[in-house]
Formats: sequence, C-alpha cells, structure tokens
Amino acid sequence: MTVTVERSTWLATLPKAHLHVHLEGAARATTIAEFANRHRLPTPGVADFNDLPEFLDCFRQVTDVIATPEDLQRVICEFVADEAAEGVRYSEPMVGPWLYADRFGWSVPDTLAFIDGTFQQAARRHDIEVRYLLGVNWARPPDWIEQAARFAVKHARNVAGLGLAGVEPADGFERYSRAAAIIRAHGLLVVPHLGETQGPQSIRAAITALRPHRIAHGVRAAADPRLLDELAEHRIVCDVCPTSNVRLAVTSDLASHPLPRMLRHGVAVTLNADDPTLLDTTLTSEYQHVGNALGFTDHQLADLAAEAASTAGMTEATRTALLSSIRRWLADDQPAKEGHRG
Ligand code: ADE
Ligand code: ZN
Repeated sequence: MTVTVERSTWLATLPKAHLHVHLEGAARATTIAEFANRHRLPTPGVADFNDLPEFLDCFRQVTDVIATPEDLQRVICEFVADEAAEGVRYSEPMVGPWLYADRFGWSVPDTLAFIDGTFQQAARRHDIEVRYLLGVNWARPPDWIEQAARFAVKHARNVAGLGLAGVEPADGFERYSRAAAIIRAHGLLVVPHLGETQGPQSIRAAITALRPHRIAHGVRAAADPRLLDELAEHRIVCDVCPTSNVRLAVTSDLASHPLPRMLRHGVAVTLNADDPTLLDTTLTSEYQHVGNALGFTDHQLADLAAEAASTAGMTEATRTALLSSIRRWLADDQPAKEGHRG
C-alpha cells in the first residue's frame, strides 16, 4: 500500500539550518497578543504593511511588547521549540541585546549572558545547536556599530557574527568598514542585509567596503549577471527569504523569484523565513513554496538545505551530522515520499 503524506509534512522532516531569522519576527502571534494585553500596549497589527518601512514599524511594535526579562525568556524558549519542530538542527537567529539592556536597566554583558543562557538551555532541551548574530540597525552611527563589533568579539562564545538590518543605505558603506574588519579579524561572520531595497551598484559598493561572508537577501543582485558571477566566484552566500520578498514587494510573486537565476550563476543560496510570524510563513513553508511555485524537486530542496549546512557558523560536529542526515532524508525510500502531494 502506498501511503501519501502532504509534502509539508515530509519537508518538515528535512534536517535544516536556519540562517536568516529575526528573533522578534518569529515570536508566536498568541504570545505577542498576550504580552500586549498584559502590558496594556497596542497589539501589533501583524499583517498591516505593504513595504519594508511599514513592516519595520510593525516589527518595532512587536519588540515593544517584550517588556520584561520573563517575556524575552519565553520568546527565546518558544523560538527554539518552534525551530526544532520545523526540523531545524542549527539555528542562527539575529538578536540585539542593546535594546533589552536599556529596557531592563541591565548592563549589555549581563543582558547578553541572559539571552545566551536562555538560548543554550533551550537548545540543549531540544537537542539542536543555536548560535546567533548580534543584530544592529544600519541607522546606528558608525562609531556605535564599531563599539558593537568590539562587544561582539569580546563576548564571542556563541556569537556567530554581526548582522546589519533595517533599511539598507544606498552608499557610504566605508563608514562601516572598521566594524566589519574587527569582526572578520576575530573569525566571526559579517552578514549585512543588502539587495533587498537597493540594486547591484549598492551591493557592489557594500561588498568592496565590508567583504561580507554572507548577505541577508541579496536578491536584487539578480538584475546584474556579472554581479551574480562575482558572488559565485567569491562564494558570498545569499540567505534568501522568498515569502518576505513577495510580502515586502521586492518581487512580484513567487513564480518570478530570482532564486533559480541566482543558482544558475552558481551563487550559494540558502532558504530562510526572515520573520516567520509577521510574514505568515515557516521555514518548512519556504521549502514547500520553492518546491511548488518554482518546481524544485526534493533533490534540489535537499541541495539548498545542504548549502545552509555547509556555510553556517555551526560546529563541525553539527555540520557533519546535519549533512549526513540530509543525505539520509533524500535516500529514504519510504512510500510516503514517493507519493507525497503538494
Ligand atoms: N528586520 C527584520 N526583518 C527585516 C528585513 N526583511 N529587512 C531588513 N530589516 C529587517
Ligand atoms: Zn532579515
């Protein structure tokens, strides 16, 4: 007898690494509503946006309701549990301790120790690995970002690198060069958001100034085939988020997403959910969408999962286990796989 399972069920079992996800954008909607109620704050309208600036306003409202250390602890614990349920074995969320240090009246090192302790305890409970990017907003002054970079390298135990998020600038990336150099010199990752709202010229300028290891998004690079070739040649990985790109009007629909073009040029691409709750998606859904809308086979989806497993800041032990479990997933000849439906 052939038993069929939904493709989403099958894809949830694909072992994954998740490299582009913002902690607060992944907080459960029910939890956010509960916190808003408890603190008598407006409940963030989680679908109320049409572009990046409107979205970022909504994102800020979500961070506002995470008002106490207990709130933050719960968001982190639920995040790790949800990642594990999606088949994630290595998660690298972006989180900034500075906001919470101000809010709780704690020092930044104490706040990071609290965040780290909570992540690591939850990671042990769910048997996954979690490291994180310390996230700073592009709008912060360059000196401040340089201090953040020094902080990151000083407290680097489970810090994978520095992430730059928010509205990417069009130019002037040299002012962030020193921060990026500090991160690189200590073997951490430089992961800026680029190519989401700005095009090839800006992406090129940023690459020259920052020499990033990975780029969050990078999809607008697809407008310039030579830039795609350069990304491939220098193995600058693009952590792509298809649903986010559609919801934030970066691409018109999933079917015309530039991901296949990027792959044809040899760019290393990983699949991610960005802000799963706010964008009404999950990491498994992203794999499913790419399977359905872009016609990717299980083999091609497993290749994307393997790319994420090859490029992240995880330990060698996690990488080896992840890559071999992806191979096992693909080789699994259970009838459910053959008969799965979209
Ligand atoms: N912060 C959270 N999600 C983001 C996105 N997609 N782009 C820039 N900054 C973000
Ligand atoms: Zn992002």
